[in-house]
Amino acid sequence: MNNYKKLAEEAIKAKSKGLPKYSNFHVGAALLTKDGKIFHGANIENSSYGLTICAERTAAFSAIIEGEREFSAIAIASDAKDFLPPCGACRQVLLELCGKELEVVMINHNQKIKKIKLSELIPFSFGEEHLKND
Ligand code: THU
Repeated sequence: MNNYKKLAEEAIKAKSKGLPKYSNFHVGAALLTKDGKIFHGANIENSSYGLTICAERTAAFSAIIEGEREFSAIAIASDAKDFLPPCGACRQVLLELCGKELEVVMINHNQKIKKIKLSELIPFSFGEEHLKND
């Protein structure tokens, strides 16, 4: 999968699966494993607003509990005019679970695609290597 058109379409489909009951801002994510499986994610909000979870993290957690550990790309779609980059919390979680080589594929309202590596979105990052003392 090189141009990520199919993954982008999956992210658009995933948008309608969430529960953004307060913001009404629907975000969809589609996470691609190295062996070609796709996991959907969508944002789920909470009346205690800070407990809301983003589309990217629901996609990653769904894949992890199904035993997946190797990922190549995540596509993110919303109804915003511009491309929607993952928030800071999602960048950190994606780094931990998917690795810095993950391709982040953003889709704008015209279904144009912009692609960037996760390492560019979260440079000089904190990670498990900092927890090792030896
Ligand atoms: N949201 C995501 O799902 N992903 C992002 O990367 C940014 C924000 C959600 C969280 C919340 O439900 C809504 O968008 C507005 O912030």
